Amino acid sequence: MLTIALPKGRIADQTLDLFKQIFGSAFAFENRKLILEEAGFRFLYVKNQDVPTYVERGAADLGVSGLDVLSERDYPVSYLLDLGIGKCDIIVGMKKGQQLDPNKPQIKVATKLENIARNFFASKAMDADIVKLNGSIELAPLIGLSDCIVDIMETGTTMRENGLEPVATIMSSSAHLFANQNSFVTRKKEILDLKNRLKEVIGGA
Ligand code: PRP
Repeated sequence: MLTIALPKGRIADQTLDLFKQIFGSAFAFENRKLILEEAGFRFLYVKNQDVPTYVERGAADLGVSGLDVLSERDYPVSYLLDLGIGKCDIIVGMKKGQQLDPNKPQIKVATKLENIARNFFASKAMDADIVKLNGSIELAPLIGLSDCIVDIMETGTTMRENGLEPVATIMSSSAHLFANQNSFVTRKKEILDLKNRLKEVIGGA
């Protein structure tokens, strides 16, 4: 049985929907249950940022995560397939009308994507003071906790509703299927078979 770690929320639902299209049966987590066994697969329902940890340590053979999460650290995992779901941009956002000022001695940046933010500002030769938050990032510039944010933007609604706008795009992200490196050796056939079936159902991407 292959064990697959999924990030709580929309990406889990959309991934399970792909499995439903392939294998026919209903794939859905019941109530508050964190493990789902269906059609010979075991799914784990875990927090977004924890998915690569389950896979890296072999608690799951496979995982699904956005590139935003996977880019935060150099995880020793094998990338298999872009699932084409959970598409979003990682942006720098500021209060409407403001722009990044490269001449400012230091910029205060609120984000949950610490390394992505640090690398972006280093590449611009700007000194960034990173304020690590775990959610509701858009609030920080509104109350003076930071000058800007680095966050994911999907529809842009959260930023707009809070009077922010993107001033730079750092990268585009979508959800990727990836494997534990040992599993990818010992269970290669099963994993590649699943990858190919997923690839077919998402349109041969
Ligand atoms: C994410 C992100 C933005 C929002 C973007 O938050 O941090 O706040 O979604 O989506 P939008 O562009 O469609 O408005 P999430 O729902 O993951 O909550 P959190 O940041 O509080 O964890």
